Formats: sequence, structure tokens, C-alpha cells
Amino acid sequence: MKSRGINKNFTGTKVDALATVVFKDEKVSDEFLKELDDLTSGQISSIIDSKEFKGEKGEVAILRFSADKGKANRLLIIGGGEEEKFGSSDIAIASGTAARKVRDLGLKSYVFAPRKADDAVDAAASSFQGAITSQFELDKYRTVDKNDKEVTSFVIYIADAKPTELKNGLSRGEAIGESMNVTRDLANEPPNILTPTEIANRAKKMAKEVGLKCEVLTEAQMKKLGMNSLLSVSLGSEQPAKLVIFKYTPKKNTGKKGELLALVGKGVMFDTGGISLKPGENMDAMKYDMSGAATVFGTMRAIALLKPSIPVMGVMGCVENMPDGKASRPSDVVTAMNGKTIEILNTDAEGRLVLADAVAYAEKKGATHIVDMATLTGAVVIALGNRNTGIMGNDDDFVNEVIEAGKEVDEGFWQLPLKGYESEVKSDIADVKNIGTKRRAGTIAGGLFIQEFIDKAKWAHLDIAGTAWSDSPKGHQAKGPTGVAIRTLLNLVEKSQ
Ligand code: BES
Ligand code: ZN
Ligand code: ZN
Repeated sequence: MKSRGINKNFTGTKVDALATVVFKDEKVSDEFLKELDDLTSGQISSIIDSKEFKGEKGEVAILRFSADKGKANRLLIIGGGEEEKFGSSDIAIASGTAARKVRDLGLKSYVFAPRKADDAVDAAASSFQGAITSQFELDKYRTVDKNDKEVTSFVIYIADAKPTELKNGLSRGEAIGESMNVTRDLANEPPNILTPTEIANRAKKMAKEVGLKCEVLTEAQMKKLGMNSLLSVSLGSEQPAKLVIFKYTPKKNTGKKGELLALVGKGVMFDTGGISLKPGENMDAMKYDMSGAATVFGTMRAIALLKPSIPVMGVMGCVENMPDGKASRPSDVVTAMNGKTIEILNTDAEGRLVLADAVAYAEKKGATHIVDMATLTGAVVIALGNRNTGIMGNDDDFVNEVIEAGKEVDEGFWQLPLKGYESEVKSDIADVKNIGTKRRAGTIAGGLFIQEFIDKAKWAHLDIAGTAWSDSPKGHQAKGPTGVAIRTLLNLVEKSQ
């Protein structure tokens, strides 16, 4: 999407549509709204006075007016909710809602005025990110009835903002929005196309494009490192497992000496359950079981473009979980990279087996802080639904840092306890078992298991099974992969620099 920034003459912009925000219970009182009200022959006051438009979040009004040739003749008014609470993520949602309406009207360009733009760079970034993420659709593989409408040009309007602020904001918004769409595209890919080998190849290509280091470990290399837990998951698959490692090194490191943050993702390209086979119904959804890895992919891409001043490592554990004569069985025992023995009691609890070796690898390579992301348990969907990601960890201060970073970008994380539940994953015959006891505390059991493979690092585990995929479209976003946690992780990184 093309973009540019302007700081005056909103109504004179050469675009297909104008778009702005009206807040809850707001009247036409400031100069900006008055000018738009005049332009539309009083339609704004009319829809407000008649209570046809209340300024609630999600509301949209499309007003028509006559304009000079080559200029917009439509004004989109987007409800912003309460003005005091209107922040960056609301700006992105409002801009995205406008962009989807503009697209649905068959138009190609719009100018967006977020109005409440305390920080011009941030407001411009959020506005453009919202525009970009709003255009993502699931229909990549359709050859007929494909959505062929698209907004191709975006203009940000912030009165009196400095041109450099607008420019910087736009390139920031582009980096974040496009990286979110990269993550979403990966999560949406069918597993016959996006195999472990294919995601590793795409990782190398992406890393080259944005200037990240990227290394891919083969099964033989993983075997040498003793990663039998991860490798056990893909024994039943024709597809060889891959461990992808990204490295971002800043020009100047302003972080605390010796600290290294690692982002580690579950990349189960498809989860049949293995010998503990899943029921057929909805098994197709398990193509998004690599959303944790896709999140690492997109976040590392954005980091390379935004260039924060701390180093970050990304690790994606990529496997396919299939039933086969060679597949592992419930009751198998394997030894992980850190020497711990695991009794595999359910081959469908495979994500934690992958993460066990992936987090141990990250720590061995110097990570002092680890955040892992995984579509790990169905239980987290039961507990928290799709509004909050489950979070657990071994250090409450670090967990709180992630929660706080999330709050600032309006992504919800809800902490579940690990302390006191340790006995849930004790095995009768090995050091740990890969499921909890009976069906209780399923999400916690997942977290506890991964914790066994962390040595000294501060660690937070994000169970994104409920939040990585949205079953219904929103005004600002298609249904399907959400790109959850990327903005939180970027905020976490930028706050630590
Ligand atoms: N990939 C699933 C978890 C999942 C479920 C993700 C629904 C997204 C939506 C995971 O590998 C799994 O199968 N977990 C089991 C664990 C159980 C066997 C202890 C589950 O949640 O049922
Ligand atoms: Zn599973
Ligand atoms: Zn899984």
C-alpha cells in the first residue's frame, strides 16, 4: 500500500474518501468537525442529533457530498468510543474499519484523520498499520470469486505534525502491519504447502531481505545436540523437522550487559495428534498449530525493520505430527537436550515436546529471557475464550512486564499459576510426563512441562490457542489468523532498550 502524510487541508486531499473519528456523545463543536459538517451540508450534526450515530466503537456512517472533480465525495465517520480512552490500538481499529469500508465501496484510497494524536509518530504508525492489516483476506488460493477490491493508497492527516514525524510513523506502521500480515499468511497456509522445510526456506529468504541472521538445523544436527523430545514428534512424518534460528544484533546495544531475549515458537505445521489421533471433525483447524512459530517469524521481521537497540533471538521449532509405523507411541520415553527424561503419555500433547528442546536450545545459546508462544492447549480456549492469551512463567516480574506491554497495545494476557501444581507433571517412570493428571488444569500442565526445560532464564509462556485465530470477521479485520502478540512483543522489546 502506498502512503503519504499531510498536516493541512484535509478536505482538499486527492483521494476517493475522507475518514475520521467522532467520539462518544461528541457534538460538532471543534473547528475540524465544523468544517466537515459544512462540507456535508450539516449531515454530521444531523446524525448525531437524531442519535442515529452515537460515537460508539464499531459504528460507521457514510456521508456523501459533492466535491470538485478529482477529490473525495464521501466522508466516513467512525465511532471512537470514549475520547479519554482512545489510544493507539483504537486508532488502528478505526483506520482499519474505514479501510475495509472504503474497499467494500470499491474505492482505492482514503485520507484518515485520527484527531486525537498526542504522539504524531505513534498515531501515524497505528493508522497505517490498521489500514494494512485490514486488507488481509483468507482467499489466497481462490481462483474464482476472489476478493479483487483493495485499498492501494493511504494518506495520514495530522494537523500541524512535522513531515518527519509523519514519515517515520508511516514507515513504522508499514513495518508492523506488513509483518503482522506475513504472520497471518503463514498461519493460513495449508500444511501440504507450508511444510517445515518450506517455512525454513521462507525464513532464510525473509532474513536475507531484512538483514537478519538465520540458521536452520537439520534433524542430524538436532540429533547431535540430543533434541530427542522435539525429534520424537516428527518420527511419524515424511517431512523432516527443522529448527530455525534468527538473530538480530543492534548496531549499538543499550540493553543491560549480558542480557539476551529469545522468542521461541511452536511450529507444528499440522497436528493430527499422532497415534493419539484427534477426531476428524475440525482437525483442519490444526493447520494453525504453527501460529507460535509464525509469530516469531513476523516479530523478528518487524524487529529487523524497526531496529531496536537490544539483541533478540528467534527460534522456531518446526515439525509435523503424524501417525505412522515410525511414530512415537503413548508410553514411549525420550531424553531431551537438557538430559531430562520424558514419558510421552499422549502424542497429541506434542507442542510442549517441541518447545522443551527449543527453549533449552535458546538458553544454551545465551538467552537470559525467554518468551515462548504456542497454540498449546484446547483448555485455554475453555478457560479464557478468545479475548485473553493465557500467560504463565517462572518470574512474576517478567510475566508482569509482558502483561503490561500487552495492556499498552490493548492485547490481553491473563496469568495462570504454576506454583503449587508441580506434581501434576511428575511421571511414575521418568522425570516428567507430557500430560497433566486426569484432565484437570490442562493449560497449567502445559506450562509446567515447559518450565522443566528452563534452567536459569526468566521465562514467560503464552498459550495463544484461543487468540491466534478468529472465527468471525470484525469491522477492521477478516476472520482467520489474528497476528496476536506481535505488537506486545515489539512493545516489550522497545521498552527494554
Ligand atoms: N494443538 C493442540 C491444542 C489446540 C487445541 C490448539 C485447539 C488450538 C485449538 C495441542 O497440541 C493439543 O492437542 N493439546 C491437547 C493436550 C492434551 C492431550 C493434554 C489438548 O488440548 O487437548
Ligand atoms: Zn496436539
Ligand atoms: Zn498441537
